[in-house]
Amino acid sequence: MSFASVLVLNGPNLNLLGTRELAIYGSETLDDVVKLCRDAAERLDLSLDFCQSNAEHQLIYWLHAARTKVDGIVINPAAYTHTSVAIADALTAIEKPVIEVHISNVHRREAFRHYSYVSAVAEGIIIGCGTQGYVLALERMATILRKKVAK
Ligand code: DQA
Repeated sequence: MSFASVLVLNGPNLNLLGTRELAIYGSETLDDVVKLCRDAAERLDLSLDFCQSNAEHQLIYWLHAARTKVDGIVINPAAYTHTSVAIADALTAIEKPVIEVHISNVHRREAFRHYSYVSAVAEGIIIGCGTQGYVLALERMATILRKKVAK
């Protein structure tokens, strides 16, 4: 039995990882990221759900379901980071710790990527660490959730 459960949620176009803008996102696929996350979750004694959708409403649906099912959320909202008040509102509504992840360093890129609706809701943000960012996010989430359990 794991001590806590985490949902890793991925937004649009991340299904194309490994084939998309390789110079920015690298050659690892989403399946490689799943494996990285599963290995990290096992090491950290977390149970893991991993989902990706290109549809905003699907991401919101999964967030609502997470309200009663998971202890924390790691999210790479992809392009919805910069546009979606609805995803930020869903994250606020479910009242779980959130870590935001971006594979690329969005601050080195176009100005429209510099603003995130999600960051104000997140406890932590990991940007520009490649796919390793997901592992770092799970490590941080495990620390946050262990402190909650100890209270
Ligand atoms: C991204 C950065 C976003 O600006 C972009 O729309 C993505 C991926 C990242 O992981 O670097 O799709 O979230």
